[in-house]
Amino acid sequence: MKKCTVPDRPDLYDLMYSNFFADIPVYEIILNNCKRILLCGMGTGRVAIPFAKEGIEVIGIDNSSKMLNCFYNKIIEHPEFADLIDVKKADMRTFVSSKEIDAVLYAFSTFNYLLNIEDQKQCLSNNIKSLKKDGLVAFELLTKATFKGLNTNAVEVIGTIFENAESKMMFSRKTTLDNNSCILEQDRFFETTYKSGEIKKDKTCLVNRFISLEEIKMTLKAVGLKFVATYGDLNFAKFDENSEYLFIVAKK
Ligand SMILES: C[S@@+](CC[C@H](N)C(=O)[O-])C[C@H]1O[C@@H](n2cnc3c(N)ncnc32)[C@H](O)[C@@H]1O
Repeated sequence: MKKCTVPDRPDLYDLMYSNFFADIPVYEIILNNCKRILLCGMGTGRVAIPFAKEGIEVIGIDNSSKMLNCFYNKIIEHPEFADLIDVKKADMRTFVSSKEIDAVLYAFSTFNYLLNIEDQKQCLSNNIKSLKKDGLVAFELLTKATFKGLNTNAVEVIGTIFENAESKMMFSRKTTLDNNSCILEQDRFFETTYKSGEIKKDKTCLVNRFISLEEIKMTLKAVGLKFVATYGDLNFAKFDENSEYLFIVAKK
């Protein structure tokens, strides 16, 4: 049976992340003055909607109909920004924008969803075809410091992620990393307890591939991009092995 992966359950994704906005000012500062951005893996609109609110034109692509349907339900409440977001169901590995773009953004570990280097190179090569000269490419990538329970085989209880008068949802996770393929699999367990005593269990799996700073630098070079900068946290600190964030900026 096919695993239920993170994009198969946008409802659970939004319970975890729809109120997380701390990374957005970082993208806004890095992409300062960019008027039209290709946002790869736009998901449920966590980044696209704040960008559009700032007057930035977003070409938002995602290959998950479920994530995009969740976005469409949200944007109904923001008709004033809807025209600024051009949504396309597409695979980022083959997507070439028909309009010239000022920047390409892979927010919130989206580039880690590509599970081998060939896919990553193909993706970048296609996405930057419409990028203007000196245009920017920005990534936020996974780091090992983000996953404290890595390869311990233990289920980490993270805590309550949702609570109202009727129910309470607990979240826990188990994370394994294959050091050869660099593929990380994280089983995510959601347990909802209702006032009636009924318990409902849900499970998704995050499947991502770790990319080291050295590797992404080689990939950038291979597709003709110039490395510009890297940052290790939300305040633009230097990146090191303990950093929980890895922001990368490159240019054409
Ligand atoms: C971690 S989510 C990020 C969503 C959103 N950008 C955010 O920051 O909340 C990654 C998104 O990338 C999408 N994705 C994964 N692989 C993709 C691919 N090959 N082409 C297009 N989208 C992809 C997933 O469906 C998912 O919505």
